[in-house]
Parts: sequence; C-alpha cells; structure tokens
Amino acid sequence: MTELVLVGIGTGNPDHLTREAIRALNGADVILIPRKEDAPGLATLRRAILAEVLDRPVPMVEFDLPKRDPAIAEYAARVAAWHDAIAQVWAQAIPPQGRAAMMVWGDPSLYDSTLRIAARLSVDVRVIPGITSVQALCAAHGIPLNEVGEPVLVTTGRRLRDGGWPSDAATVVVMLDGECSFGCLDPAGIDIWWSAYAGMPQQISIAGPLPEVAARIVAARHEARAIHGWIMDIYLMRRRS
Ligand SMILES: C[S@@+](CC[C@H](N)C(=O)[O-])C[C@H]1O[C@@H](n2cnc3c(N)ncnc32)[C@H](O)[C@@H]1O
Repeated sequence: MTELVLVGIGTGNPDHLTREAIRALNGADVILIPRKEDAPGLATLRRAILAEVLDRPVPMVEFDLPKRDPAIAEYAARVAAWHDAIAQVWAQAIPPQGRAAMMVWGDPSLYDSTLRIAARLSVDVRVIPGITSVQALCAAHGIPLNEVGEPVLVTTGRRLRDGGWPSDAATVVVMLDGECSFGCLDPAGIDIWWSAYAGMPQQISIAGPLPEVAARIVAARHEARAIHGWIMDIYLMRRRS
C-alpha cells in the first residue's frame, strides 16, 4: 500500500520546515503539488520551498484542485462533495505503491481537510507537524496565545459574522476570513492583533484597540491583496474586562 506523508510546511517560509519535514520530503518517491486556479502563487511557493530543501531530485506530480460546486446549497454537503472530488484527483495522482508526500500549509490538524480527504483513500497516512498560522501570528506580534489560565477559541470569519463574539471567550482567533468580519462586532473594549502573510518576508502586522485600527486593517488588506494577487490573514482579539 502507498504511504501518504502529510508534511506540515509552516506558513510560507522555508525556515519553518522542521528537520523531520525536510527528511520526509527528501525520502519521498513522489511529491504531490496541488494547483489552485485563484492562487497560483501558492504552488510557486511550494516549488520554491522544495528547491531550497531537496538535496536530491524527487519526482513531482502537479494537479489542479477541483472547485466547490455552487449548485449544492447546503454548506456541509457542498464541502463533502468537494472533498470527494479532490480525493478522486488524488487517487489518480498517487502511485499505487511507495511513498508519496504532500506539503500541507501550516499544520494538517488546523482548518485543513487534507486528513479528511486522505481518509477517503486506501493509503497509510503519516503526519509531520508544522508551524501553524496561529503560532506565526503570535510570533509576529510577540504575544502569548492565551491569558493566564484562560481558554482560547479558534474560529472562522463566517462563524464570527453569523454568531458574533462567542460567549465566554476571552481570546478569539479568527481564520479563513475574506471579509474582515471583525467589522460585525461592537468594537468597544476589544483589542486586535492582525497579520497577513505571517512568517513570510511580506508580513504585515497591525495591532491596537479595534475602534482605532479596524479601518487601517481593512485598507491594508485590500492594498496587499491587489499587490500580491492573493492574501492569507489571521487575527487574535481579546476583550478587555
Ligand atoms: C485553510 S486554512 C489553513 C491553516 C493552516 N493549516 C495552519 O496550520 O495555519 C487557511 C487560513 O490560515 C490562515 N493562514 C495561513 N497561512 C497564513 C499566513 N502566512 N498568514 C496569515 N494567515 C495565514 C488564514 O486565516 C487562512 O485563511
């Protein structure tokens, strides 16, 4: 049976790869590289990382990621159908035996469906952990993730828009937010730490009381997206008690 090694690569900086990750990539028989039509820069980045860390030529197989089917109205069903479609593409790209490696952005455990898609296939899965965008965000600002003895809630922009500030949460981390959803909150008493391209050379970070910095973040996000053609951003908010 094929072994599929899911290698957490960190958030776009070759220096984020652990020695274990580098060993796994060099030890693969083939490396799979997904291409996203709306973010071709990400495949380019993966190739650039490989150029830095491979010490022998490893065959690469590139494939286009299918898109979600907008005709499926219900969110969970739409995502499940999308994962099925991706699994089919992987099944064609993965050789019937040997060791295939897939570079997973950040870490496969966090807001990433690679493990769920891999579970649809007959492969042995091994995970190499990577630096997450949550860690890269905290490092960018030099802040701890949690306050002393307090929990942290990690959520998405969509959930923040739909549900507002999660009850009982002192610290909220928001990912997958293309719409600056902090704008839907009453900003009074909230501090925010925001980073785009966290850990990368083009990293942008803005922090401060939400009422004072919200407009600056929205403008910076808009401008950076236009310049680079893609953006990934993440933010942490705390409510002052
Ligand atoms: C599909 S999730 C992947 C998360 C990834 N598995 C991780 O461990 O961080 C993509 C989201 O992660 C966040 N993200 C990933 N890389 C980032 C980066 N370099 N800077 C800021 N946010 C990032 C963004 O919120 C983005 O929308």
